[in-house]
Order: sequence, then C-alpha cells, then structure tokens
Amino acid sequence: MTLHLAAERDLIASDIAAYLERQKSKELLRFITCGSVDDGKSTLIGRLLYETRQIFDDQMAALEADSRKVGTQGQKIDFALLVDGLSAEREQGITIDVAYRFFATDKRKFIVADTPGHEQYTRNMVTGASTADLALLLVDARKGVLEQTRRHSILANLVGIRRLVLAVTKMDLVDYDRDLFDAIVADYRAFAEKIGIAEWIAIPVSGLGGDNVAAPGSAMAWYSGPTLLEHLETVPIDSAADEVKPFRMPVQWVNRPDQNFRGFAGQVASGRIAPGDAIRILPSGRMTKLARVVTMDGDLQEAVAGQSVTLTLADEVDCSRGDVIAAAKDPPHAADQFEATIVWMADEPLTPGRGYWLKLGTQTATATVAHPKHQLNVNTLEELAAKTLELNAIGVAEVTTDRALVFEPYRDDHGGAPNRALGGFILIDKLSNATVAAGMLHFALRRAENVHWQALDVGRETHARLKGQRPAVLWFTGLSGAGKSTIANLVEKKLAALGRHTFLLDGDNIRHGLNKDLGFTETDRIENIRRVGEVAKLMSDAGLIVLTAFISPFRAEREMVRHMVPDGEFFEIFVDTPLGEAERRDVKGLYAKARAGELPNFTGIDSPYEAPEDPELRIDTTQLSAEQAAEKIVETLLARG
Ligand code: ADX
Repeated sequence: MTLHLAAERDLIASDIAAYLERQKSKELLRFITCGSVDDGKSTLIGRLLYETRQIFDDQMAALEADSRKVGTQGQKIDFALLVDGLSAEREQGITIDVAYRFFATDKRKFIVADTPGHEQYTRNMVTGASTADLALLLVDARKGVLEQTRRHSILANLVGIRRLVLAVTKMDLVDYDRDLFDAIVADYRAFAEKIGIAEWIAIPVSGLGGDNVAAPGSAMAWYSGPTLLEHLETVPIDSAADEVKPFRMPVQWVNRPDQNFRGFAGQVASGRIAPGDAIRILPSGRMTKLARVVTMDGDLQEAVAGQSVTLTLADEVDCSRGDVIAAAKDPPHAADQFEATIVWMADEPLTPGRGYWLKLGTQTATATVAHPKHQLNVNTLEELAAKTLELNAIGVAEVTTDRALVFEPYRDDHGGAPNRALGGFILIDKLSNATVAAGMLHFALRRAENVHWQALDVGRETHARLKGQRPAVLWFTGLSGAGKSTIANLVEKKLAALGRHTFLLDGDNIRHGLNKDLGFTETDRIENIRRVGEVAKLMSDAGLIVLTAFISPFRAEREMVRHMVPDGEFFEIFVDTPLGEAERRDVKGLYAKARAGELPNFTGIDSPYEAPEDPELRIDTTQLSAEQAAEKIVETLLARG
C-alpha cells in the first residue's frame, strides 16, 4: 500500500536513495520486524547490523562503554542499546513510529522497518508492512506463541506479506532446548494453516550469543536449517513477479520544462514497457504509443516495475497528475464504489457518511465510508458486528468516491506481491489533515458500473438563463432557536418581492418528510445534511436561489455542501446567537427539556456545535433584529450579483 506519510517519504527520498545508489546492482529485500523489546527484538536487529559490519567504529566504542555502565549483559555488548539509541531521533517526534534501517551483505541489500510493539501497533505495523516483502516475527522461547504473535501474523497476511520468519529468540535462556522449540513450531503451524500463511520458517536464535543469526554457533547442533541471515539472503522476492503483471504507471507529475518537451513522471507500479508499445491513459481511455523512457542517466530501452522514470508519448494527448498510463490491451478499470478492508488509525473513530480525502496512488477524491459490514477480531479472525471503527480496528466496508478512480484489487489472481500502488489507499481527515486510515480495495461494486450519469441537454445554465438570475445556496447555520428560520423566511420574502425564484428548505419541515427516518445522533445529522445538500444542489441546478435553515452543526458537512455547488454560489450565513441567549429565549421550550435530561443529544447541551470559521456572512442577533439581518443579507447578495 502506498502510504504517503511525510516522514516515510522524506526518509526514502534522502537516506535510502543515497544508500541505494551505492548498492544499485544488488537485489533489495524489505522486511518488517514484529515483536516488542521484551522479545529480544532490539538485540536481534542490533546483532544483524553488527554481523553485517554496519556498525561504525565510533558507535562501537560508545556501545562498549555504555554496556559496561549498564552492565546488564555481563561482558557481552548490549546490541539493544544500539537500536534503541538509533531510535532517539524518532522520540523527538519528527518521524512516525517506524524506523527504517539499512544494511547489506555481498548477496543482497536490506531495508528493515522496525515498528514498536506498544498499543498503537496496528498503525505502526501497517505503515511498516506497507512495502515489505517479509515479516520477521519474534517469539520469546520462554513464552512461546502469544496473542500478539497471532495478531501480527494476521496483520502481515492482511497487508499482503506472503513470507514470514518466526525467530524463536533467547534460546540461550532455555538451554537451547530442542523440544521446547519443536513445541513452539507445532503450535504456530496449526495457527498458520488456519489463516493460510503461504510460506513460513522457524529459526531458533540467540541474539545475545549470535547463534543462528549469521553463523550457526555450536550450541544448537540439532538445528540444520538456514541461519536467519542465510534465509534473508535467499528467500524469493515478490517484486520480480511485479514485472510480469500488466504495465501500470500512476502519473506523479507532468514535466514540461519548455514547449518542446512534455514528459509524465512516476514510478512504474507493475509490468514493463518499451518505446513503440501501445498504451492507454486512464480514466479517459485515450490510446497512443510510448515514445521514450527518460531518466536522469539518459534514455532506457524499457521501463520495468519499481523504476522511477519519465515517459514521453507519441501524441499530444491529455494526461495529468492522477491519471494512470497502462498497457493498451490490459488496462485497469475505473469505479466509484468499492468494497474494502479498512484499518482505522486515528483516535477519533470512523464517522460513517462523512467525507474524507481518499488517496489512491496519485489520485485524490472525496470518499465516504458506509457503516462497516463487520469488524475483524484480530485474535480469532471472527467477524464481529460493528457500528464504526475505532483506533486499531480492522473492518470491511463499502467506500464511495465522488469521482471514478482507476484501481486494481489489492490482491488479484496474478499471484506475487499485492497491487499496492492501485489497490492500497489512505483516508485523510479533511479538517485536521491527519491520516486516519489505510485500506485495501477488494473489488468494485457492480452498481457503480451500471449506474451512469445521464448527460442532460438542458443544463443549469439554461435553467438559470430562463429564470434570469444567478442560482445560489444561502446556507443558514446556528444553534436551535438562533433565528435561522425566521431570518431565512424574511430573506425569501424580500427576494420574491424582487422577482427572484427561490425555495426555502427548513429543518423542522424536511424532518417530517424526506428525512423522517433520521434522528439526532452524529451519524443521522450528517446524513440529514448530506441529503439536504443534494437537494439544494439539484434546486440550484434548476436555477433557483435556495435557502436552507438547519443547525448543520459540523464544519465537515457544511464544507462538503460548499464544494458540491460551483465556486461563488454557496453563502454560509452564521446566525450567531450565543447559547445563553438561545436558551433564554427558548422559543420551542426544547432547552428546558434538554436540561431536564428529557432530550438527549441536544445541540449546545450534550451535542457539539462547530461554529463557522470563515462564513460569507455573520449575523449577530444580539445586535440586529431579524428584519435588519434580512436586509443586510439581501444587500450583500445584490452587491455580489
Ligand atoms: S441538524 O443538526 O441535523 O442540522 P436540524 O436543523 O435538521 O438539525 O433540526 C433541528 C431542529 O430539530 C431543532 O431546531 C429542534 O426544533 C429539533 N430538535 C429535536 N431534537 C433535537 C436535538 N436533540 N438537537 C437539536 N435539535 C433538536
């Protein structure tokens, strides 16, 4: 899955790029470690780095001194200090909780994603696992297979890691007991079969003594399998399989230095392509041929999976950031409704129906997630009923986007690595800009393919022209009893008197008809506003000036409606009556009821109201009468044409 977390991107951009440049010709294995420091993880990684001679001499000296000071491990160097020391920079809060380390042997180069095992393990692990070929699971020989081992296995499997290594650590603390090791392996085998892990191997190790890390060591003569490093050096890498898949490259940006050159830059997600090959640009479906494969080091004969290149095309066709260049014969599909697995990563739970930014490769859209079909119990694989998804939860739900996205199922029948570039996505909160979820697309829902937009001959311009006016949506928002309906009514009267065609949608009325199935929970209010937004949009398409009077307490939904209508046609009018004042007036007697506990989820009492930050108009009802307010609104409208 492509996670565009800034930290990961920056790391990859600088350190890894420089490092890989030096190691260019070698094959790369990316793996992730799962387990906690208690499992001997730091010691084991430290030992790996040490054995592969990546520890710098000065760090070594410091390490020996520190070990003497700490003194916990006797004479031997405490490798955990090395790894934990390296993670100091991440404690400063610059990076996400995934540390990447690099090392190399004669045969291969490696990138290890090390994720801390504490309570945010799901988020960290999914992030680290998003690009990994293999997962290294640590099991403390004294404890055996734990719930956390099973959880990590399920998560690794979920994000498409097909190969696991079970490193049974701290063998020195159990006298290198073979029976104990065999029992752990048998235990894990039963579980691995149940969840369908494709390939796994168990290796008994001692990070402290180094047995079976890089060299066999004498203590476990009974073990005849490969050492950890041997296995890492020889295990097949799936990315080779990416090259036999059909060609796809999401366009990252259009490179147009002058009139004579127009190239499309990106990273090849799968397949290979050579100049002269027929290609198709999606979602438009336009066809042309590949002209050149340009890189910093000159033109290439072909582009293959994993390479970052700039492609030039034989014809001047439309192609921009977010489009996908694909093999002409075997292009991916586009759709706007999907089933997906979603891993929730934010403290704030999922709000079904709310609009989030969805990033799929280089494509961005607004997406809403329906109520989950189920949530996965990560210990038992049981499917549980769920109303939402909370931090670290994994569920399956339908996702709808506001435009068609070029996609591929995260896992397909081609085998090999998953389609991370076009099947893995993230969700971003529109207000906080935080990544709240990662997801994996399963398939497009049929109805998305079968419901087409009807191209209409008489469009919104014609409707507006016939009415001789510019359509608009006047969106009144404010607390219950703030005066929204009263003012909106007066404004409508004034507009009608001026010969304008208007329509007023009022909360109390709509809730008796169209929205009579909705109550006042957060989810219901969001759906209330979504429907009203759609109706307001249709009416403005019909050329009307639409007035709406709803509390509409959430910024996110008001913003959503704003973006549904053309720029400049949405007027957010904040009817600003302080809670104390609205409660004092209490026109409908509802505040009294709410205070008495007879009306739960009442806005301002036990349900939030998010005031507009930058409304087109703010009406202070403690200063203006309803009549004055209406006058002011109409004046503003006339001034804006
Ligand atoms: S919104 O939050 O979903 O935008 P809407 O404007 O449709 O609310 O409806 C608000 C009206 O419903 C209030 O003016 C009030 O008359 C009535 N109402 C009943 N229960 C509640 C409640 N719990 N919170 C707010 N308003 C309520």
